[in-house]
Formats: sequence, C-alpha cells, structure tokens
Amino acid sequence: RYPQSVSILDVGPRDGLQNEKQTVTTANKIALVEGLAAAGVRRIETGSFVSPKWVPQMADSADVFAGMQRQEGVIYSALTPNMKGLENAMAAGADEVAVFGAASESFSQKNINCSIRESLARFAPVMQAATDNGLRVRGYVSCVMGCPYEGDIAPQAVADVSQQLRDMGCYEISLGDTIGTGTAYQTNKMLEAVSRVLPLDAMAVHFHDTYGQALANLLIALEHGVPTIDAAIAGLGGCPYAKGASGNVATEDVLYMLNGLGIRTGIDMDKLLDATQAISDVLGRAPVSKAAQAMLAK
Ligand code: HMG
Ligand code: MG
Repeated sequence: RYPQSVSILDVGPRDGLQNEKQTVTTANKIALVEGLAAAGVRRIETGSFVSPKWVPQMADSADVFAGMQRQEGVIYSALTPNMKGLENAMAAGADEVAVFGAASESFSQKNINCSIRESLARFAPVMQAATDNGLRVRGYVSCVMGCPYEGDIAPQAVADVSQQLRDMGCYEISLGDTIGTGTAYQTNKMLEAVSRVLPLDAMAVHFHDTYGQALANLLIALEHGVPTIDAAIAGLGGCPYAKGASGNVATEDVLYMLNGLGIRTGIDMDKLLDATQAISDVLGRAPVSKAAQAMLAK
C-alpha cells in the first residue's frame, strides 16, 4: 500500500534557517549541507535567491553554493521567486530551482507581494528561462490546508493552483501546510482533490509540525502513494510570513517512521544524527525532533 521507497528533500538549510533568529555563519551553513549529503540525503534545498531585505538570513546563499563541496548524485536546489532570483541561482550553480505560490490570496500578498494570478505570470519567464537552461523547476503551493489570514483553504483551490503550476512546466508540486494546522482528515481531502489533477510522481508533501500533526498527515500521504517528502533536519524552521508557524517536520522523525515501515530512503540515521548534533551545537539548543533527542541521549 505504501511506496517502497521515498525521496526525502531536506529543506533545513533553507526553510529551517530562513527564520532563524541567530545569525548562522556561511561556514556553518556549508557544514550543514555537507553533513546532510554525507548522511545520504539526495535532495537538499540549499538556499534561497530572494530579496535580502525580505529574508536577510538567506543573503549569503550564493556563498553557500560557492563554498560547499558537492557530492555526486546530490541535487542542490534553491528558491527563485522571479527572474532576478533565477539569474542568481544559475550563476551560483543550483541544480534545480523552485517557484513558490499559494492557495491563499492573502498569503500570496504577504509572502511575495502579489496576487496568485500575478505570481503565476511572474513565474512564466522563470519557467521558460530555467527550462531553456536545462534546469528542472519545482512548484510550491503554500497554505494547502490552512492560512494564517484566511483560515481553512478549500481543497479545490489547492488543486487549481497545483494544476496551473504543473501546466506551466513544474515537474513536481510540493504541497505546503505552511502553518501546520492541517489534520489527517484534511490531508486526505486535500490529496484526493490534488490527485485528480496531478500524477502521483508529481506530488510532494511539505508539512510543518506546529500542531504536532505532521507525522499523522504524512502517513495519510503515504497511503495515497506520495513519493516525496520534505522535511528539515532537527525540525528547524518556520516561515517569516506565517506568524506562529514552527519548523518543518523533522527529518529524523520522518526517517524513523519510514524505517519502521520498511520504506527505503537511502539515508543513514547515525550519520544524519551527526549532522543533527552539529547544527544543534551551532544553534545552542536541542533538536525539536523527538526521535533525535531520544537517540542522541543514548
Ligand atoms: P517586491 O518588492 O514586490 O519586488 O518583492 P521588486 O521586484 O519590486 O523588488 C524590490 C527590491 O527587491 C529591489 O531592490 C529588487 O532588486 C530586490 P531595491 O531596488 O529596493 O534595492 N529583489 C531581489 N533581490 C534579490 N533577489 C531577488 C530579488 N527580487 C527583487 N530574487 C519578492 C518580491 C518576491 C522579491 C519579495 O517579496 C521576496 O523576496 N519575498 C521573499 C519571500 C520568501 O522568501 N518567503 C519565504 C520562502 S516561502 C516559504 O517559506 C514557504 C515554503 O516553505 C512552503 C510552505 O511551507 O508553505 C516554500
Ligand atoms: Mg515551508
């Protein structure tokens, strides 16, 4: 019933650190990315080419790309909201880029300063240029279950934006529960609606764990056969434009669950925990991940 293998995309260096209050040095970001690759993570969201006035924590993304040792077979990706972002991401050598939209009008305005319709128009040249340069483009949809400004979001609204992003050429759509309010029931309804418009292999889930529901919701996603899961090492993160949103579901927790189900990921838990320990030392706090806490305490 579940997929035999799942691809985990670690968004810790981007989604995790973009909202970090402390300044994390470029060297420590590089160490985090390299630690994830060493643990067997094959997709790493390494940075974000957005306005440094909006998200100062990602201002050194080009330096992270320039300074890191690349491991063969690893896809190092970045967020690119517009042409300027894409140009900077290509100059930095990103392997893959992502545009990010929302299923909620208010969130779109607060996050990227334009309506959903305008955002899709802005993405069009980004898609074109990326494709011309041989880069695959992922599309994010934020607020797939709840919005900090509008409350519950209709599954059909998520399906509509997902389909438009797919029609524009995004090879994969990452469905973001930005504020982590979604329940298993809502996850099922949302995925039912989206799977009517997207093939399974184009679907990814991106759950924040604000209400502690992420693992339950991921199990529902696995029942639907969703093959790609976004997670952040140590449960880092939040979103600067979603007040109260806590981090992404922790990679360690997801890996523990998938290992228990016999679902392959290619990630080595012990090596992952080395990276967890390292970033936790940098931040001076324990990981949010319960699995990591338990295993590191041994
Ligand atoms: P804007 O102000 O509407 O854009 O921002 P603009 O084109 O008018 O440009 C304004 C200024 O920004 C100009 O500089 C541009 O050069 C500069 P100035 O002339 O004032 O000095 N600028 C840029 N600088 C660097 N890189 C760029 C870039 N573009 C413009 N790419 C914009 C529009 C989208 C740029 C802005 O709103 C922005 O950067 N927003 C950041 C949003 C963001 O990063 N949010 C967090 C990531 S999304 C997320 O976390 C959700 C996700 O995890 C899924 C989920 O959980 O739901 C993906
Ligand atoms: Mg996110």
